[in-house]
Amino acid sequence: MSSGSQTVEGKMYEFTTQSGADTIEVGRKLVRLLEPPQLLLLRGELGTGKTTLVKGIAEALDAAEADEVTSPTFTLLHEYNGTRDGKPVKLYHLDVYRIEGERQLETLGLDELLTPDALVLVEWGDKFKSIRKRATGEIAITASGGDSRKIAVTLKDELASTQTRSSQPEAK
Ligand SMILES: Nc1ncnc2c1ncn2[C@@H]1O[C@H](COP(=O)(O)OP(=O)(O)O)[C@@H](O)[C@H]1O
Ligand SMILES: [Mg+2]
Repeated sequence: MSSGSQTVEGKMYEFTTQSGADTIEVGRKLVRLLEPPQLLLLRGELGTGKTTLVKGIAEALDAAEADEVTSPTFTLLHEYNGTRDGKPVKLYHLDVYRIEGERQLETLGLDELLTPDALVLVEWGDKFKSIRKRATGEIAITASGGDSRKIAVTLKDELASTQTRSSQPEAK
């Protein structure tokens, strides 16, 4: 089940799922909405289904099978190669839960990851101001009793991100 709406800041979509398989299916559908480049915060308590959602996104990009997508809790970063509309897509799945501070975060080189063909999905990314600043949107998952989950996707408008970019002096 899903619904979409437009807010001042961007577009918002909501889904309700009743199982892990449902959430994988939502992940598959989301790919259509996620035009690279994107850096999305994956929000939600432990075990709500952030990694499960990435399984569906990876599958729809032909980047990996659901089973191959595991939590990057200890490795911090998993990288997959996929395609979207016939164009190559780099899928980066990060989990920064264990990262202690901005300095340790810098060693991940987040800036280098966000290339024009990249979809960067960061579990616990809202922990860091530098990641929140770069985010083009967020996916927030909340448990709503039993196996039921609410998935809220907010994508900033292109206009908004253009304005952010144009506030920086352009290199000529
Ligand atoms: N509706 C649902 N959506 C996502 N996961 C669910 C759902 N119902 C049960 N689950 C289970 O909850 C767990 C979610 O784990 P995971 O995706 O690793 O969470 P997170 O990455 O948020 O810590 C999985 O074992 C999954 O099968
Ligand atoms: Mg996880």
